[in-house]
Amino acid sequence: MTQGVLEGKVALITGAGRGIGRAVALAFAREGASLALCSRTSKELLETEKAAADLGVTTVFQTCDVSRAGDVEAFVTRAIGTLGRVDVLVNNAGVAHRAASLLELSHDEWDDVLATNLRGAWLLARAVIPHMVRQRCGSVINVSSWLGRDALVGYGAYGVSKWGLEGLTRYLALELKSARVRVNSVSPGYVATKMTQYRGGKAEDVVELFVYLASDASASLTGQQLDVETWKRDFGIRKR
Ligand SMILES: NC(=O)c1ccc[n+]([C@@H]2O[C@H](COP(=O)([O-])OP(=O)(O)OC[C@H]3O[C@@H](n4cnc5c(N)ncnc54)[C@H](OP(=O)(O)O)[C@@H]3O)[C@@H](O)[C@H]2O)c1
Repeated sequence: MTQGVLEGKVALITGAGRGIGRAVALAFAREGASLALCSRTSKELLETEKAAADLGVTTVFQTCDVSRAGDVEAFVTRAIGTLGRVDVLVNNAGVAHRAASLLELSHDEWDDVLATNLRGAWLLARAVIPHMVRQRCGSVINVSSWLGRDALVGYGAYGVSKWGLEGLTRYLALELKSARVRVNSVSPGYVATKMTQYRGGKAEDVVELFVYLASDASASLTGQQLDVETWKRDFGIRKR
């Protein structure tokens, strides 16, 4: 049997109960990674855990709201306590908001989106990266959007959160370069999940780039904004 490219690695994935996070978790499991998974809904997490266990990998899962520092610290402590290390962090948990201009959004709507999509990624980075620095290796993958590189009327708070995530990616990559911890962002394209009311392409079709960024094949890549479709085209693996 051939070894998976993530054999021996431990990956921590937020928002892994459904959608892109679940698809990435199962792709990593197929490549042999052990997994630490979180989201706020235990029933969905359990389903992902069962599917990963069927693929023969060790999985730890815990409900965790990524915007809460205490939840994040408890999750990361348990993951590392159980699995011993963490090689890959996928900051995938995210929420959108109703279509409304920035001036129409309520305080709570703005805070909810920024707290999950931006503060959450920073809290995870803060909790996980010191372990990667001690290991002298690690890969952080921030799930962004083309709205973090452009603008669309009606999606301002979401867009600002993703522009912030792109900034977080660049700053962390710069700060961590000599520590051999790399930080990149991925724009997955339009994917059929609960967030898009199940319109768009299949989540399974965006996972190759995540596997590549988690693997040693991308060891020299940091501070990059990657787009799934462009990457597939450049690497010639677009599905026929
Ligand atoms: N689908 C697209 O077309 C698309 C395009 C560009 C970027 N993205 C990005 O891709 C990522 C995944 O989105 P998706 O499309 O897969 O949406 P989704 O199906 O709604 O999944 C989002 C996941 O994040 C979790 N989550 C949300 N808030 C959380 C919180 N505070 N703490 C912990 N987990 C939380 C959700 O679980 P709970 O609700 O149970 O917590 C769920 O597991 C997001 O960052 C999104 O912005 C998606």
